[in-house]
Amino acid sequence: MHARALLLLLVLWLPAQAVERPPAAAIASAHPLATAAGHEILAAGGNAFDAAVAVSAALAVVEPYSSGLGGGGFWLLRRAADGREVMVDGRETAPLAARHDLYLDAQGGVIPGRSIDGALAAAIPGEPAALAHIAARYGRLPLARSLAPAIRYAREGFEVSEHYRRMASFRLDALRASPAAARTFLRDGAVPPLGHRIRQPDLARTLERLGREGEKGFYAGATAKALLNGVGAAGGIWSGEDLRAYRVVERAPLRGSYRGFRITTAAPPSSGGVALLQMLNILSGYDWEALAETDRVHLATEAMRRAYRDRAEFLGDPGFVAVPVQRLTDPAYAAQLRAGIDPQQATPSSALTAAAAAPGGNHTTHLSVLDREGNRVAATLSINYPFGSGFMPEGSGVLLNDEMDDFSAKPGVPNAYGLVGAAANAIAPGKRPLSSMTPTFVDGPGGTAILGTPGGSRIITMVLLGVLEFAAGREPAAWVARPRYHHQYLPDVLQFEPGALADAVQDELVLRGHTLQQAEQPWGNMQAVWWDREGGRVLAASDPRGEGRAEVRQGAAD
Ligand code: GLY
Repeated sequence: MHARALLLLLVLWLPAQAVERPPAAAIASAHPLATAAGHEILAAGGNAFDAAVAVSAALAVVEPYSSGLGGGGFWLLRRAADGREVMVDGRETAPLAARHDLYLDAQGGVIPGRSIDGALAAAIPGEPAALAHIAARYGRLPLARSLAPAIRYAREGFEVSEHYRRMASFRLDALRASPAAARTFLRDGAVPPLGHRIRQPDLARTLERLGREGEKGFYAGATAKALLNGVGAAGGIWSGEDLRAYRVVERAPLRGSYRGFRITTAAPPSSGGVALLQMLNILSGYDWEALAETDRVHLATEAMRRAYRDRAEFLGDPGFVAVPVQRLTDPAYAAQLRAGIDPQQATPSSALTAAAAAPGGNHTTHLSVLDREGNRVAATLSINYPFGSGFMPEGSGVLLNDEMDDFSAKPGVPNAYGLVGAAANAIAPGKRPLSSMTPTFVDGPGGTAILGTPGGSRIITMVLLGVLEFAAGREPAAWVARPRYHHQYLPDVLQFEPGALADAVQDELVLRGHTLQQAEQPWGNMQAVWWDREGGRVLAASDPRGEGRAEVRQGAAD
């Protein structure tokens, strides 16, 4: 066996006591108060899993447009003591009364906005159950302790930022339509001014019940009653059975490799891990660092196009459809796909058989945590659109998701992000909508990367570019800042951030047959941690596009 691979196996398999511990703990998240909440819990004797609960709950309060108790997510965990790796699937589920034609009119057309705004757009939340599960199964502190910073933030409030104002402006109509949401997130029905404090006393009480009673404190009792009353009165279709039936699923993460690095990533119902491994498998056939920039962008685009084609065709909730994960992530399949790539010419998406795929918004959130014992968490959480459905049931303080829009309402008809899908992602009672969230670990002999980002269907290509940066030996500040480009099969355009591609590279790509589209805004909000084993240090970085904070701290576990 190659010496680097052997060293990597040793690092991953030896019991934690036998491997060195990180010299510091690190947390990167999309909001400074959430990062502070995680460090507060580490300082109180919690481990990375307690800290991840604290950061997730804090984000639910201070970044209400991105994730929350009314949403869901995937928490990828690695426990240092025994090397156990698991993906805690807290993805939302379709209500039991949901049918495939929920958002169609009598003529079979998709009713605009119905899967996006208001109570009918909301799937059954998974985040509260996931937080209770992680605390009970993997944490060291009581759930109530880990939720304490979030409860404090909900009571004391947080300050409105420029980003908050942008998100609230974008969802102003949906927020105005829900009296509880408008009271909470607007001021006199308008976007609040900079520095205005958002206080959420109802959410504080809901968090307290969750902390005291565990998941029953959310899915039964006073919170459940408020949710059901509110959703029912607003035309939604939730039932008590939906809340009682909600279960977190522990799933084996997907695993793959890229040039001696071990990739651990999200399993279905996320499409992220499958597509990431497919793209890395295709690209591993090229000498990446030796390529000219135009060749890199061209080949990565062709890999993206093919992975997203398969995403649209084959991926859905594995509890409902057979997802051919092994076949799609098999290096031999990637070799076939690679053989179909012309190094000088774009393949029109119309020339690839099969269905379709979609673009991405910039909502959702990510956190990366490493503690002094080497436990780690990469978690990507969402309520889908900014401020989710915009709907808050009275008395709950819980802003509900609009994750139902991640289903394919009708084959071939795009959702809010332009996504189209196939039968594999059709609505069915109790089914989890297909996701792009891609929390990921990358282990090499020299160190470990923990990373992920929000950004709709662009999440997967952002994580790909981040992994390639890490594999090229660059540090987290470079992974998160890297200019981004994206292709997703359909529409057949190569999107890029302003400034991401030099003029000469753009000209060459057009000559190769690519249709280029410069995005108006940058995208993504990557949060990354690097345990540099070789260098004996820990580094972390928060995407300069966002307002997050990455913080490395010594202390504890000494
Ligand atoms: N709602 C975004 C995603 O799960 O991909």
